[in-house]
Amino acid sequence: MKTTTLRVGLQERSYEIILGQGLIQRTPDYLEDISFPRKIALITNTTVEKLYLAPLMDCLTNAGYQCHSIILPDGEAYKNLEILATIYDQLIAKGFDRGSGLIALGGGVVGDMAGFAAATFLRGIPFVQIPTTLLAQVDSSVGGKTGINHPLGKNLIGAFYQPKLVLIDINTLQTLDTREVRAGLAEVVKYGVIHDADFFAWLEGNSHRLLALDPDALLHAVKISCQTKANIVEVDEREGSIRALLNFGHTFGHAIENLSGYGEWRHGEAVACGMLVACRLACHFQLAQSATAHRLENLLRSLQLPTKWPDFPLARYVDAMQRDKKVRSGSLTLVLNQDIGAAVLYPIVNITETFHQVFPELEF
Ligand code: NAD
Ligand code: GLY
Repeated sequence: MKTTTLRVGLQERSYEIILGQGLIQRTPDYLEDISFPRKIALITNTTVEKLYLAPLMDCLTNAGYQCHSIILPDGEAYKNLEILATIYDQLIAKGFDRGSGLIALGGGVVGDMAGFAAATFLRGIPFVQIPTTLLAQVDSSVGGKTGINHPLGKNLIGAFYQPKLVLIDINTLQTLDTREVRAGLAEVVKYGVIHDADFFAWLEGNSHRLLALDPDALLHAVKISCQTKANIVEVDEREGSIRALLNFGHTFGHAIENLSGYGEWRHGEAVACGMLVACRLACHFQLAQSATAHRLENLLRSLQLPTKWPDFPLARYVDAMQRDKKVRSGSLTLVLNQDIGAAVLYPIVNITETFHQVFPELEF
């Protein structure tokens, strides 16, 4: 079976990303290669449990691993301190110690929570990511951001903590809801815009294959996305510089999610609109040509992603963007693209006036 191996080079925190089809059943071989602990907690949720826990548990048990499952309720609403505490409770009750490990099996919510549990339980035990959503495969499982939400904001409590391995089985995407697939594709488009013009052009020619879950197309898209993220994280693990470019489209996207009430818009859908807003601003500041905004809009449309944002008053958008945790010292710095294939951090002095100039057609 063909697999692709990428590497995230971070000195003693380096690890491999292995991707292919049907990899879950081969998990024991990959764990053997990294001398992963023999006592493992498999953390998943009630949805993914029914689909993929048994095959993973069976192959690990057959290979002599001692496994316990920890099943979380499904949903962003449960990415909180209360549910995190139930993970610690079960680890302690089952006698997990520093010679044990965790595996996160699921989407970004499970991955972020299990990763944070691994970072903090006994001051850190090893963990592996087995992401099962497209968003988790192209973004959240790579790079070591882990954490939970606070009632006052998303991902406000967390740690940078790298996994020992990321195992991506793209066959898991076959059971994913179409809306989740499209939301993940928004993050894929992001890599093309900020870093890789050839990949963007490839996406333009292959959107129908991706929506049809063609395995070769998915493997290519996941590979390029992970490679791009790995390259960025290697240079800037803790988001002191270029890692911030991965937030392209996110400031306005977070504002949409926040104003609509979390859960109404999928994160990727909001990011799709946010990328378009950022691209129109980039055209205004002559970083990009207007043809670029048309290309981006056409690609998002062909991936069946939204290109029209909800019409809240501009003042509320500005307020929500300024509350985003990525805003420093009150000034609004956005990630803007330089045509296709590059991006910069760009400070915007008067955001309200700029929005009125750039989007005169909108009744904000
Ligand atoms: P999610 O984890 O909620 O998964 C979406 C839905 O798909 C859930 O209902 C889940 O149970 C279900 N699911 C998962 N795998 C499935 C499969 N193979 N088949 C059928 N259903 C399946 O959402 P997500 O979009 O994967 O992740 C969003 C989370 O990721 C957010 O909390 C966000 O903050 C976080 N995130 C983290 C990073 C990071 O760098 N750590 C980056 C981006 C996003
Ligand atoms: N998802 C953005 C990051 O990992 O930095």
